[in-house]
Amino acid sequence: MSRSMRIKGSARITGSLKVPGDKSISHRIAMLASVASGSSKITGLASSADCKATLECIRRLGVRIEEAGSELVIHGEGLFGYRPREPIVHLNAANSGSTIRMLSGLLAGQRFASQIDGDPSLRRRPMARIIEPLSLMGARVEATDGNFAPLTIHGHNLLGIDYASRVASAQVKTCTLFAGLLAKGRTSFSEPAPSRNHTELMLTQFDAAVEVDSSSRTVSVEGLHELSPVDYQVPGDLSSAAFFIAAATILPDSRLLIPEVNLNPSRTAFIAVLNELGAGIEQQNVRERHGEPLGDLSITSRRLATERRGSVLSGEIIPNIIDEIPILAVVATQLEGRLEIRDARDLRVKESDRIRTVADGIRALGGEIEEFDDGFAIAGPQRLVGGRVQTAGDHRIAMAFAIAGLIAEGTTEIIDADCASVSFPEFYEALAMLTEPDTVASAPID
Ligand code: S3P
Repeated sequence: MSRSMRIKGSARITGSLKVPGDKSISHRIAMLASVASGSSKITGLASSADCKATLECIRRLGVRIEEAGSELVIHGEGLFGYRPREPIVHLNAANSGSTIRMLSGLLAGQRFASQIDGDPSLRRRPMARIIEPLSLMGARVEATDGNFAPLTIHGHNLLGIDYASRVASAQVKTCTLFAGLLAKGRTSFSEPAPSRNHTELMLTQFDAAVEVDSSSRTVSVEGLHELSPVDYQVPGDLSSAAFFIAAATILPDSRLLIPEVNLNPSRTAFIAVLNELGAGIEQQNVRERHGEPLGDLSITSRRLATERRGSVLSGEIIPNIIDEIPILAVVATQLEGRLEIRDARDLRVKESDRIRTVADGIRALGGEIEEFDDGFAIAGPQRLVGGRVQTAGDHRIAMAFAIAGLIAEGTTEIIDADCASVSFPEFYEALAMLTEPDTVASAPID
């Protein structure tokens, strides 16, 4: 049974917060370690339900994983080292789009068949975007209506392709490049707008023959090369930090420190956007580890405003802020001016239809929002009042509106709040720790 949470207004947020390991990096490191030739040691892997789903799938594929505290050893046995114990191996990706889309790339080139499925939310998300490149490489993938999970993947000898994707999706890029690792020849992937580049950076760590041409937004990888195991430390997740960055920005007199966060430029537009609106978010002690920038964030509250015409976020910036848009909507209710988000139609096929769930949530708290097919507009500042917010089982909606509850008058109830554990299992505990006493309480579902 999933709990509801009751959130009361809090004057400020103060302290220091350690966020979970980056989810995007965690999926990738676990999957690549599972096909490396040797044992990889990984520390700080995300504790999220999504990443647990990835580890469980890898185990079912016969890969040995040892866990001791925050340290994990994954014993890869090479590109074709999976040892499934069933004629068709059944895998459960739960709520995780990353698990199903990325792992499908590694399954497509195996010499066995597999079926990968997930929860009702995952079954509604489009898979044709990965089925197309995998089929062109030679795999046979069956899906409901050619587009939805469960996916039955008949592994095959793959051939490298040059693929130009119509969607700017790091999951599709990763799936194609992962299949490329198992394919004969070179596989190249080009995208219409830059998406997060963790896969490219990480492939280098595993000694894969990867090449990046930023001018044409193309990444390519040479197939059938053994991957070396790695010793890898996962940085904190900026997308999880984003909820607290937003809270510390909009609640007066707040001061928050978030150490050890990934600061890859393909993920940091949320910080840049808030700072352009007047926020006080400083990056400190910035350094590099495993090719990924990371650093500490120091946040002090500020009044935010757009220039008179308002701001429109559209085009190439969207993939960079895609996971932060729900919390950006909450911030927009508190800023002086109008913020419009466009070209974000992909939000409609995330864990929920996030344009709809964001709009419903804002309205449930008495706010106003204009909804478009590909985004929304919010004019602030608005007075929010406590209400009941339906999360639709979407972790980022639950967390974004828990933060909205801090600024709303009265009590805000987040229905089906436990879905936050999909990316941030300790979210409500962290929120309670950083806010005033009695701000956060759980209520049994009615
Ligand atoms: C992710 C890419 C994004 C993002 C998701 C994680 C990744 O999805 O929304 O939460 O780790 O590659 P798309 O690639 O489908 O846009």
